[in-house]
Amino acid sequence: MRTWVQSVHDFGHAHLLKFWNELGPEERNHLAGQIQSIDFQELADLFAGVEKAIDWTELSNKAIAPAAIRLNDPNPKYSMDDARECGEKAIRDGKIGMILVAGGQGTRLGFDLPKGMFRIGPVSNRSLFAMHADSLRGAMRRYSVSIPLYVMTSPATDLQTREYFSQHQSLGLNKGELIVFCQGTMPAIDASTGKVLMDSSSNIALSPDGHGGIVSALDRQGILKSASDRGIEHFFYAQVDNPLVRACDPLLIGYHLLSKSQLTTQVVKKRFGREKVGNVVSLDGRTHIIEYSDLPDEAADRTNADGELSLWAGNIAVHAMELNFLAASAKNADGLPFHRARKAVPFLNDEGIVEKTSSPNAIKFERFVFDLLPLADRTMVVEGDAADVFAPVKNAEGALTDTPTTSQNAVVAQHKRWLEQSGVSVSPSVKVEINPHWALDAEEVRMKIQRSSSILVDTYFA
Ligand code: UD1
Repeated sequence: MRTWVQSVHDFGHAHLLKFWNELGPEERNHLAGQIQSIDFQELADLFAGVEKAIDWTELSNKAIAPAAIRLNDPNPKYSMDDARECGEKAIRDGKIGMILVAGGQGTRLGFDLPKGMFRIGPVSNRSLFAMHADSLRGAMRRYSVSIPLYVMTSPATDLQTREYFSQHQSLGLNKGELIVFCQGTMPAIDASTGKVLMDSSSNIALSPDGHGGIVSALDRQGILKSASDRGIEHFFYAQVDNPLVRACDPLLIGYHLLSKSQLTTQVVKKRFGREKVGNVVSLDGRTHIIEYSDLPDEAADRTNADGELSLWAGNIAVHAMELNFLAASAKNADGLPFHRARKAVPFLNDEGIVEKTSSPNAIKFERFVFDLLPLADRTMVVEGDAADVFAPVKNAEGALTDTPTTSQNAVVAQHKRWLEQSGVSVSPSVKVEINPHWALDAEEVRMKIQRSSSILVDTYFA
């Protein structure tokens, strides 16, 4: 068996040890640990492009819309009432946990801290983390049950996320209801030579291994086992950047359970063909997501005879996942392919100086959680109304879509609708915000607001 030092040399990465003699004991330990965690054969294969190149044009030509539970379907396979009831029962019985992925850095948003700490509450100024925690507490209140929240961080967001939750009393979650765990990393390599990049003489340039890293992280850290031990059978999965997510949405969970799906995806009808969302499609009888950046324009724009988009189903990254399916996939986590992205990564040069570049000099590798879909034998796709389920914060103010303002407007609009359905009139320029711990939906608002009234100033119902 090769030692790690041999591996470094055999795979042509001797530069990693170039400054070894100048390092102190702690730095050596740190670097040795990083090197030992690298699978150099895997990296060599990835660089050589040994994995089969994907012909997106060919795939897209074959792709058709997935079978789905559509909104306003005149002949639905399952009734909404049955689905809701089934989902509510599973939640009440303690079979559901929630996963929030929060390992990405808010680069596009121009926010230096973990994105979950970004303040988004239109009136309350609550953070994204607080919006999700409140939504989950709302579900716990309604169903009189404790629901654990599993927050996935990355090395870039882990410490600050833990500190944030601890400084804010776990945002109201009880002991044992908050489990923070960190995903794995992958080294960045030089795009022309395939050599692992360092960003200091004792540190390898590592980046998060993508949200697909969740499968092995959950398994490696014993979370699937401990969740199963506490009776969890399915997870409700969401991204931290979407404050409109209804934590543990009973309807989605109900459809997932009634259809015995292993992996269910909530989608919205794309507003236009080239909208920047993943495309949920069916390929040779299996469900796949083709990311917008991979989907050729002709396929994105393709329409049916009725003028509707052929590939209409936009991924909002809200899923229901069977725990047993995740556990089985974890045994085969290497089955998830890596996606590559060319990025500008600062690197240590031969002289031991860190060079910064604005052009993409490196390749980063990420796994995507939705690549689990084609591996599942039973999947389900459920359409939601974008106005109620999808208002992500991705871009800095000034962009056309997915900014803090567009996201806040969607939250205010939803809560206005709920109030107006209860006979309350809200002045057009006024902002309203409802904490889910106060009311989870329009029905609950109606029960709390007994008489018709008018709202003339910004109001936060908490
Ligand atoms: C993602 C989806 C896209 C979907 C859109 C909906 C991918 C590749 N694309 O796009 O299909 O339409 O969301 O909003 O996912 N994260 C981690 N660890 C990582 C990388 C990301 O936890 O290593 C988390 C982020 O914190 C974030 C989420 O995953 O919560 C999404 O990541 P991001 O890279 O922002 O994906 P999008 O490009 O927004």
